Amino acid sequence: MTRTLRLVLLPLLLLSLSLGTAGAAANVKVGKEVFQNNCRTCHTASGEGGALSPAEKTRAQWRRFFKKTEHPGQPGIFQQLSEDEKKSLRLFLDHNAADADHAETCG
Ligand code: HEC
Repeated sequence: MTRTLRLVLLPLLLLSLSLGTAGAAANVKVGKEVFQNNCRTCHTASGEGGALSPAEKTRAQWRRFFKKTEHPGQPGIFQQLSEDEKKSLRLFLDHNAADADHAETCG
């Protein structure tokens, strides 16, 4: 590789790395925390919402769930979340849905 080429490629590489992290507003790990902090409060076996884990629904079912503007019986739950939190939550549920590649139960 010539020196000039390297001088051009290095900044491009650094730029793409920094763009990569800056664009990662939605994050599965954050989504898991959002789930635990905002959904687990009611969704446990003995809670009023009943047990709920990401793997109880398929990706399509979770997608449909988020298309509804209101959580059943509990309007306002989604409104409390920021856009980034919602994106991360959706990502977490999607990654761990029943038909996802690496299904994981949540606690
Ligand atoms: C304040 C308590 C409460 C919180 C917080 C809560 N839920 Fe619920 N959730 C309920 C109750 C109660 C029901 C049952 C409503 C009904 O069937 O009428 C329910 C139902 C559901 C259902 C439907 C269950 C099914 O089998 O189809 C889903 C999905 C769900 N909640 C997801 C969530 C998610 C995701 C969050 C976090 C963003 C969340 N809930 C936060 C109380 C809660």
